[in-house]
Amino acid sequence: MHNNWNLPDIVSYIVKKEKEIILFDQSPQKLYEPIEYILSLGGKKIRPALTLLAFNMFSDNMEKAVCQALAIEVFHNFTLMHDDLMDRAEVRRGKPVVYKVWNENTAILSGDAMLIMAYQLVARCPSHLLPDILNLFSVTAMEVCKGQQYDMEFETRRDVTKPEYLEMIRLKTAVLLGCALKMGAILGDATPEDTAYLYDFGINIGLAFQLKDDLLDVYGDPAVFGKNIGGDILCNKKTFLLITALENANRQQKEKLEYWLSQEACDKEEKIKEVTFLYNETKAKADCEFKMEEYYQAAIHCLDMLSIEPERKKELKLLADSLMERRS
Ligand code: IPE
Ligand code: IPE
Ligand code: MG
Ligand code: MG
Ligand code: MG
Repeated sequence: MHNNWNLPDIVSYIVKKEKEIILFDQSPQKLYEPIEYILSLGGKKIRPALTLLAFNMFSDNMEKAVCQALAIEVFHNFTLMHDDLMDRAEVRRGKPVVYKVWNENTAILSGDAMLIMAYQLVARCPSHLLPDILNLFSVTAMEVCKGQQYDMEFETRRDVTKPEYLEMIRLKTAVLLGCALKMGAILGDATPEDTAYLYDFGINIGLAFQLKDDLLDVYGDPAVFGKNIGGDILCNKKTFLLITALENANRQQKEKLEYWLSQEACDKEEKIKEVTFLYNETKAKADCEFKMEEYYQAAIHCLDMLSIEPERKKELKLLADSLMERRS
């Protein structure tokens, strides 16, 4: 009898295993404390959940995939620690960011240590799978760096196109979700076809996920979002919202947007308010929601193509649904 785990049980299992497997009680404290801090702030644990859900489609013994699931979560948290420094963010998961609680050098070095930890964890797999697992992880990690570099370069460009933006978020965000699923598939000995469909499901749900993240950055509820609203607007991030607003704008609206893009040291609240107003006026918000829905549908199609019983796809479908409706 196959045991289908549900999402809440998987998340509790991940939290429990994180405490058991990752040892923070080491010196120097200032290297490990920030790691414990960021991991203990929780987060949704989507990526390790994807690994375990994919694995559970083919196998029951979660112990066999848990180190790789944790590796991906540790890697994700490493990217967040550095991302907050790069994005001048102030809060993450409702708490002050690491580089503010400690300092910038601490965020850099503790982040580096987390990347190494992630490699140590991912390598704890059966030796015959090690080459494939390591290759997948390294290729993905390099892609995330490329995506982050594009994201930074786009801040100072005015001519970023939608295809360029979509490629940037595929790299910085979607590939890690794809990797998480593919990791579970490889460990679960899935067929190459199912492995590929799971990866493509991850890419599409990842693109939808980043579009939602961009929407929440503007329209989220500050009480639940856990990050500062308007951070992307203040950094002149070339989000789907901004690119669409520039495309859809009439001359007057375009001039206003260009004006706010040139304002760096202005009243922050005013810039956020005015740019948000232009997003609404130009229907950028509606277009972004439409695009997100398209990628969600593409993801569901990949799930439908998997060669396993529909009963075993239920939890992944529920997770995909919850990501589209999320508020944090
Ligand atoms: C935040 O990821 C970074 C993005 C790729 C948008 P999550 O929204 O998964 O963050 P946590 O881990 O749940 O806090
Ligand atoms: C996240 O992009 C991508 C990575 C961390 C690799 P964002 O910069 O949009 O993520 P948040 O909004 O700070 O979580
Ligand atoms: Mg960023
Ligand atoms: Mg950021
Ligand atoms: Mg964001």
